[in-house]
Formats: sequence, C-alpha cells, structure tokens
Amino acid sequence: MTTTITRILALAGCIIGISLLHYLTPLHLHYLHDIFQRLYYLPIILAAFWFGLRGGLCCSLIVSIVYAPHILFQWGGHLTMEMEKYMEILIYNTVGGITGLLSQREQERSVELQKTATGLKESYRKLQHQSEQIIVIEEQLRRAEKLSTLGEMAAVLAHEIRNPLGSIRGTAEILKDDYQPGDPKYEFIEIQIKETERLNRVVGDFLHMARPPQADMQPCPVTKELDTIITLVSNEAKDRQVNLILQPQPLPAVIIADGEKLRQAFLNIVINALQATPKGGSVTISTTVLENGFCEISFRDTGTGIEADTLEKIFEPFFTTKPEGTGLGLAISKKIIESHNGKLMIESEHGLGTTVTVRLPIPDTTHGGKG
Ligand SMILES: Nc1ncnc2c1ncn2[C@@H]1O[C@H](COP(=O)(O)OP(=O)(O)OP(=O)(O)O)[C@@H](O)[C@H]1O
Ligand SMILES: [Mg+2]
Repeated sequence: MTTTITRILALAGCIIGISLLHYLTPLHLHYLHDIFQRLYYLPIILAAFWFGLRGGLCCSLIVSIVYAPHILFQWGGHLTMEMEKYMEILIYNTVGGITGLLSQREQERSVELQKTATGLKESYRKLQHQSEQIIVIEEQLRRAEKLSTLGEMAAVLAHEIRNPLGSIRGTAEILKDDYQPGDPKYEFIEIQIKETERLNRVVGDFLHMARPPQADMQPCPVTKELDTIITLVSNEAKDRQVNLILQPQPLPAVIIADGEKLRQAFLNIVINALQATPKGGSVTISTTVLENGFCEISFRDTGTGIEADTLEKIFEPFFTTKPEGTGLGLAISKKIIESHNGKLMIESEHGLGTTVTVRLPIPDTTHGGKG
C-alpha cells in the first residue's frame, strides 16, 4: 500500500515538475521545450510499468490534459508547431496504452509462474511427507512380518518340545523315588524336575502367545488377586531383601476377568520389579478407583529404571536385558491386559525406578464394591 502511494506521488511530482518547466520557460527557447516534451514519456512509461494498462492510460491522459492548455494558449497561432504537439499527445496515449498492456501481461505471467512454483513446492512437501510415511510403514511391516514368522516357529517348536518334556519329567519322578532326600543324586533329580518345569512354563508361554486359550471371565475382587500375588512372591522378596508393600485400598473394586490370566500378568510385572530392585529397595502395589469407571493398579519400584531406548522395546516379544530372561513376560502381560479391554502403561526414570500401571474397566454393577 505504501509503495503504491509513494509511486503515485513520484509520478504526480514528475508531471507537475515537467509541466512547470513547460509553462515557465520562454517560448523562444524552443529546443528546451522539445526536451521537456520528451520528458513526459518518463512518468507515462513508469506508470505503465507499475500499474499496467489502466495506469499507463491514466497517466498519459493526465499528461495530455495538463499539457494541452500550454499548446493552446502559449503556442496558439503557430499552426505547424501546434499540429506537431497535438501529434505528440496522441503518441503519449499510444505509448501509455501499449506499454501498459505489455507490462500488465508480463505481470500476469509472473503471478501465474509464482502460483505454479507455490503449487510445485506444496506437491514436493506432500511427496516428501508421503515417502517418510512409507518408510515408517515399511519398517512396521518388516517388524510385523518378523514377529509373525517368529510366532509361527515358536508355536511349532513349543508343540514339538512339550511331549518329550513330559516324558523327561515323568522318568525323573520315577528315578527320584530310588533316592532319599539328602542324597546328592536326589538333589540333582530335583533340579532336573525344577528346570523341566521351568522349560515347560516357557513353552506354555510361547503357545499362549500363538494361541491364547479360551478366557474364563468371572467377577474378581482386585484386592483378593493382589493378596494372592503377595503370597506368591513374598519369599522371593525376602530373599532379595526388598520391601514388598501392598497399600490398603480405599475403595474395593471388583472387575470381570479371567483370574488366572490376570494373576499371570500381575506376577510378571511384580517379578520384573523385584528383579530390578536392589537390596533395601521397595516395591509398592497400590490401587485407585478412577471416576471414569476404571480401576488403576500401579506397581512402583525403586529399582534401576529403564533407559529411554530400552523403554521402546520392552513390549517386544523376546526382548530381554537379563541373562536368563525369555523376554516374554511383558509381551504376555500386555496381551492379557488388552484382552480384558485394559491398558498397560510403563513409566521409568533411569536410576530412580519404574512404575507399571494397569488400567482395567470396572463393570457398572460392580463399580464401588457392589457385587
Ligand atoms: N520394573 C522394571 N525395572 C527395570 N526394567 C524392567 C522392569 N520391567 C521390565 N524391565 C525391562 O524390560 C525387559 C523385558 O521384560 P520382560 O518381563 O518382558 O522380560 P524379562 O523379564 O527380561 O524375561 P521374562 O520373560 O523372564 O520375564 C526386561 O529385560 C527389563 O530390561
Ligand atoms: Mg519379566
């Protein structure tokens, strides 16, 4: 806007200046008048460049109107002179019109070009965004493919391992009967049975991942389930000299769940917490009933915590940082919680500890302890 005003003022100043030169210069200095006459082309061409056809014509008309009285009253009487100057006025308007038209076309073309350039830039940005998305999706697909192949292999393997495992355990039980407790061989066979059981559990976990058995949904008081977990792991906590605290529940909550699976999920989480917590640390389990009909159970430990890049992978099957871990605990727990329409969240600060939160829906009838 300010540039337009400045340009108009410059043109007006130019026209007034040249006209004053015309009106004030004595007529006998006709060679000066010839020069001034040509000077008018300057504002006309500038106006045409700046404002297009309309600008050029407007300017040439103003120049004609301002210049005409000078011809009529000051040059009047010299017919040939007059004719030449009227011709000049005609040329002013022709130049104004043609230059204006050309410059307008040029301006329109440059606007078109600019529009095309903006369009191209936008398309390029979209294309770049799409190609980035393709890379991300490709990576996800690659991972999904890897996991599904691994899953299938695991299922076949688990199936093939389970039967001989049963025979090994059975024969070990028979052999155990031949020895008395205290006998080193008795101990060895005990170890063998225990390890076979562990292997059987791992195989069971594999199969669970591949083919989860039918859920047995029943009303489950959350406190009762957590009490069971405390009983199951209290010995381990004692051995590790870790304080295991179950915070009293302000509002009893009953959820509809497959108790056995839920305990399996909770157990994996608590065992992870105990394994991560050094001597003298604590693992605290607390429950909150949320306003929105959900129950939140959090397992907070004062353990080693998890580094940011590890945190991204902990739900991946087979991801473990433990020499004897299978890396299936959290993957299974997540699957169990999600199959109960719940959510498993994990927050951790490296060096300070980890909080695993399980959020489960409380059915309307059982909300607040009824049922
Ligand atoms: N409370 C925790 N504190 C610190 N690290 C944890 C915690 N819970 C899980 N992790 C990390 O997440 C990894 C995956 O845990 P997950 O339970 O799936 O497997 P795991 O414990 O290694 O093996 P397992 O199959 O025997 O449970 C662990 O190896 C550990 O690095
Ligand atoms: Mg674990």
